[in-house]
Amino acid sequence: MSLTSFPGGAKSPRLASLTTKVTVPTLGEMKRQGKPISALTAYDYSSARLVDEAGIDLLLVGDSLAMVVLGYDNTLAVTMDEMLHHTRAVRRAVNRALVVADMPFGSYHSSIEEGLSNAIRFVKESGAEAVKIEGPRVELVRAIANAEIPVIGHLGLTPQSLHRMGGYRVQARSAESIRQIKSDARALADAGAGALVLEGVPREVAEEITAELPIPTIGIGAGPGCDGQILVFHDLLNLTFAPPAKFVRRYADAGAFIRAAIENYRKDVEHRAFPSDEESYHLPETARRSLKTNRDELPIVAELRKA
Ligand code: KIV
Repeated sequence: MSLTSFPGGAKSPRLASLTTKVTVPTLGEMKRQGKPISALTAYDYSSARLVDEAGIDLLLVGDSLAMVVLGYDNTLAVTMDEMLHHTRAVRRAVNRALVVADMPFGSYHSSIEEGLSNAIRFVKESGAEAVKIEGPRVELVRAIANAEIPVIGHLGLTPQSLHRMGGYRVQARSAESIRQIKSDARALADAGAGALVLEGVPREVAEEITAELPIPTIGIGAGPGCDGQILVFHDLLNLTFAPPAKFVRRYADAGAFIRAAIENYRKDVEHRAFPSDEESYHLPETARRSLKTNRDELPIVAELRKA
């Protein structure tokens, strides 16, 4: 860490005006009041702090970190320990947003007991305030909710089912699959899910589910009719290295901005233009003078030695 980084730092004025902690019941209240829920992923302290200070309601430590942070081709490899490590960093940064940890592939697929004990690990070991689970795992959702852990469902294009789906494909396009996703959504809500992420489904289907469910829906590639929207931090800022999906809107080109800044730094180093005198530490005046005097005397001393 550099001496110029101050852990904790001052709170932004915007944050001071947005201090009421968001909880899962807050999300339900927002749905009832027709207030859109803003959600975004984040994976580390600095990005989470920016997300929170920008007033985003829900911050998901998504297993998408496997791809956008760790460089894997899909989300399947990320482990519980890696997710816990990143969730802890995010939790330290956040004051207001609801912090949700994504349960990674393999952490809840063998049994309900395993899923429940990993959900408990997220709460105890990382400070997560809710967990998210992909697929219609109704009994697991019930068990986690019964253990007092808020749980968010995730239906539609569920990236952990990549191999079963045969690729990342928009889901719920046939009458049968629409019936299925609607009944899964109802079952998750009945089992105690506090909210539901809908990913990669036609907007008409997402609108119907949103209208039917008592819990909020949060869409990604599910059209504007959901109760909230979520995007991946790196997609929103163009910090990815592949063409974006149709539903992604780039709000900034942080990739180009960062690359240009780093290239300027490299050039300054190569031209000895960094650091400047102002960016250097100095000895106090007296010490500087004595250093200079000693240096000036050196040739004389050398002369005397020769004599
Ligand atoms: O992992 C993730 O980022 C997600 C969101 C896309 C919903 O699950």
